[in-house]
Amino acid sequence: MYRSNTCGALRASNINSEVVLSGWVHKVRDKGFVVWIDLRDRYGITQLVLDQDRTPKGLLEEARELGRETVIHIKGQVIERASKNPNIPTGDIEVLVQELQVLNESILPPFTIEDETDGGEDIRMKYRYLDIRRNPVKDNLIFRHKVTMEVRKYLSDEGFIEVETPYLIKSTPEGARDFLVPSRMNEGQFYALPQSPQTFKQLLMVGGMDKYFQIVKCFRDEDLRADRQPEFTQIDCEMAFVEQEDILNAFEGLTKHLLKEVHGIDSGDFPRITFDEAMQKYGNDKPDIRFGMEFGELNSVAQHKDFNVFNSAELVVGIAVPGGASYTRKEIDKLIDWVKRPQVGAKGMVYVKCNEDGSYKSSVDKFYDQEDLAKWAEVTQATTGDLICVLSGNTGETRAQLSALRMELAERLGLRKPNEFAPLWVIDFPLLELDGETGTYHAMHHPFTSPKPGQLELLETNPGDVKANAYDLVLNGNEIGGGSIRIHDKEIQATMFKHLGFTPEEAREQFGFLMDAFQYGAPPHGGIAFGLDRLVSILGGQETIRDFIAFPKNNSGRDVMIDAPATIDDEQLKELGLKLMS
Ligand code: AMO
Repeated sequence: MYRSNTCGALRASNINSEVVLSGWVHKVRDKGFVVWIDLRDRYGITQLVLDQDRTPKGLLEEARELGRETVIHIKGQVIERASKNPNIPTGDIEVLVQELQVLNESILPPFTIEDETDGGEDIRMKYRYLDIRRNPVKDNLIFRHKVTMEVRKYLSDEGFIEVETPYLIKSTPEGARDFLVPSRMNEGQFYALPQSPQTFKQLLMVGGMDKYFQIVKCFRDEDLRADRQPEFTQIDCEMAFVEQEDILNAFEGLTKHLLKEVHGIDSGDFPRITFDEAMQKYGNDKPDIRFGMEFGELNSVAQHKDFNVFNSAELVVGIAVPGGASYTRKEIDKLIDWVKRPQVGAKGMVYVKCNEDGSYKSSVDKFYDQEDLAKWAEVTQATTGDLICVLSGNTGETRAQLSALRMELAERLGLRKPNEFAPLWVIDFPLLELDGETGTYHAMHHPFTSPKPGQLELLETNPGDVKANAYDLVLNGNEIGGGSIRIHDKEIQATMFKHLGFTPEEAREQFGFLMDAFQYGAPPHGGIAFGLDRLVSILGGQETIRDFIAFPKNNSGRDVMIDAPATIDDEQLKELGLKLMS
């Protein structure tokens, strides 16, 4: 028997029991006549003790030599600790060792297995299996498990059936590039890995499954960021005979359930705002509403004087920064430099200090009097002690710049509290998005998304204005889910493909199977997919999804532990009918 208990289990009530434990040597403390070992496993740490008087001959010497991370197996008696450790659950007891066996040696780990390790990101990724021994990573994986189990339980109880869909498929258009897999048996032909199971879940609705879900890997060859991985997991869902309202209610229910189970939070109904409103108020379609600092559009109160920068701008817009009036000149200059960084791209920033005495001091006092500035304060909802930051330029860019500034300042001011959760629905997304480079439209969500009722005609005249039955669920400034009501009519789907620039032949070649299926009584349907990695990390109070994935890729899409991707040998290339371009 390897163990009678885990290293996290023993308490004062176990005193005098004979126990068998196995685990890793976390630390050895050698005081000459007595040796203590911290023995660690997934469940915790138990202190072992060996001393001259009570331990069989020779064991003390052996224990003294044990290296960190050696795997050992001991038998002993639980005794009360002389000096208790209130910081760990097993801190009242220790185990007096009677037998000790080394199960496996360890060479010196490249970093310390401690919560605060000396190992940098790269080395921890290379030895991820050692990183997983550390509490922060281990706890994140356990947390992920807990959330995943709650999702499965909730959806199953609500009548959803988990169905697996294939990974070796044909391209699914979700806006990223595909990862391709050559087929040995069909030389010169390739599978694509799914960017999502989108078309399959729609086919499951045609198949009458009614309520489907799947916790599923998706693959997207796109540039990586803290909230993106090339392979990630979705909670993918679809329902038949539903309208948008049904979907929002069903998945608001899931999210509320998770907040309750995981954090004990009873959330009220989630606010809903339209895409247009989100852009206007926050410059962003995934607003963080844990704090205010809403945009105030200043055109009408700032374009009547001789300040040409504002007069020539499409949009003049500001935010009030709480307490910002106390910033020094140097601090404000730094802020201006920050918005002028290429990553943000503003040309400059106008500011107004709302002094405690009710007066205003601005960087444009030459052009605007106190009365003007009071109006700016009113529009941006600034109060005494605040700093109003104003940007101007074309609408799209200026909103994006001010949104970046809003998030940065909120972060600096500690307003993005990780233990506060502010979900909201963003609805009425545009159906199409103009590609600045090619001048053509592409689907903002995906080509199967249904336009809002009565807007089909607009597609001919003002494609950019057509709104979709599409929605995102946003949590703390992150898009954690997105979905839509689908087109279930073959003709409308064909019209959509036409507007997206597919010839009928291309549409048939890529999506013929779906259009064919729609001939056999496709029910009205819709759905949503949550990014599980994102959901878990935000519920866990963090925003880097890598920390919640057991074996993630780095920012260049590499797995540095197994060293992938890797070249393959000529033989394998030949077998696949592939030739490398030299
Ligand atoms: P969408 O493309 O919005 O919708 O994806 C759904 C959710 O998946 C997460 N996500 C990602 N997470 C980590 N890394 C990535 N690279 C990544 N890309 C997306 C996001 C996002 O909200 N088939 C549709 C859903 C539907 O219409 O039902 C889809 O895939 O949290």
